[in-house]
Amino acid sequence: MMPTFIAMIVAAAALQQAPPANYDEAKVPHYTLPPLLVMSDDGRPVRDEGAWEARRQEISALLETQMFGRASRPPEDMTFEVVGVDRAALNGSAIRKDVAIGVKGKSLRLQLYLPAGVPRPVPVFLGLGFAPNQTVVADSRAPLAGAWARSEPSKEVSLQPATEASRGAAASRWQVEKLLARGYGLATMYYGDIEPDFDGSIGHGIRAAFLAPGRQAPGDAEWGAIAAWAWGLSRGVDYLVTDKDVDRSRIAVVGHSRLGKTALWAGATDPRIAMVISNNSGEGGAAISRRRFGETVADLNRRFPHWFCGNYRQYSDREDEMPFDAHMLLALIAPRPVYVASAEEDQWADPKGEFLAAVAASEVYELLGHKGIGSSTMPAPNQPVGERVRYHVRTGPHDITAYDWEQYLDFADRQLRR
Ligand code: GCU
Repeated sequence: MMPTFIAMIVAAAALQQAPPANYDEAKVPHYTLPPLLVMSDDGRPVRDEGAWEARRQEISALLETQMFGRASRPPEDMTFEVVGVDRAALNGSAIRKDVAIGVKGKSLRLQLYLPAGVPRPVPVFLGLGFAPNQTVVADSRAPLAGAWARSEPSKEVSLQPATEASRGAAASRWQVEKLLARGYGLATMYYGDIEPDFDGSIGHGIRAAFLAPGRQAPGDAEWGAIAAWAWGLSRGVDYLVTDKDVDRSRIAVVGHSRLGKTALWAGATDPRIAMVISNNSGEGGAAISRRRFGETVADLNRRFPHWFCGNYRQYSDREDEMPFDAHMLLALIAPRPVYVASAEEDQWADPKGEFLAAVAASEVYELLGHKGIGSSTMPAPNQPVGERVRYHVRTGPHDITAYDWEQYLDFADRQLRR
């Protein structure tokens, strides 16, 4: 009995195990992307802006029901409270506002740095952080917040107390001084405030507050955690458009990695977002899934089952059957500027697949009268290409760095010019 039982467990475990990732360009299968400019209901070609609007609706519904999941409508009774203002933050170079966004009994904290001594309103970058707001820059006067963590061995997810040591811990990823010096503001929110990033932690997140009575989890076409984080970004935009110091027509959203996937979906769903930066977003973000290079749909569904909606699971190892791919996610942002950035050592995120999605999406930008990537040859490292759709592959690892920010600020200077 016993050996057979163990053999069965071993076999089951082997079945669960991921096949090794493909990093060989020669093994990328031949694939055809679903067309952007053909209506799926009747096969009509899309030749102008009006026709694109109808096609856009189709694509948006596809990605919503098959990939990210439908988010709940924000409630009418949200509150915004500026709980603190420091007019001499960062040695007088900045104004810091600490804002509490009250929604469904939760308080989402938004921290806003604005450049001091310049005419306002100013354009603002908005992004979610992997850690609470005090980590974006070493500011001894910023309020501290705790972070969600899963403790071993109990597997319990809980909010850990804030630490002084966390101030500025993620400073290299935000480059606050650089942004301020260039005349931009930076608004950040902690993604864990919206939805802690753990499979099974739904009870602690915003999605639980919207569950229909008797339901323990969202339905298969309803929001996963990424859609919840994107929804949270939109709640940040809800506040920013009320702040007289912020230029509401120049709000850019930025995100790294899973939060890059999130930034793309936020841009796709919220037209108030004027520009989108996807940094190393990879699979489930800017990378073409059909290439099966690096991370795959199956990897995402296996390791992060809470990120996407239930319907996305059916596409594990069935990429060619997906009625969508990453070029559609980028195209939903058109005609607003979008920057896709990769890192050379981040092969897991498939830099070439990210570039090719940007190339394919450019077709929509061109239809709408803008220049896109303008080339289908992958550029050399640290050689940004494109106009309204822009791309670079930076040397170095999976990260968001000073180099990346310099490109984003130059891009914003050009694309968000008034
Ligand atoms: C993992 C995951 C990626 C994700 C990344 C991140 O590597 O596989 O899809 O982008 O984490 O968010 O850091």
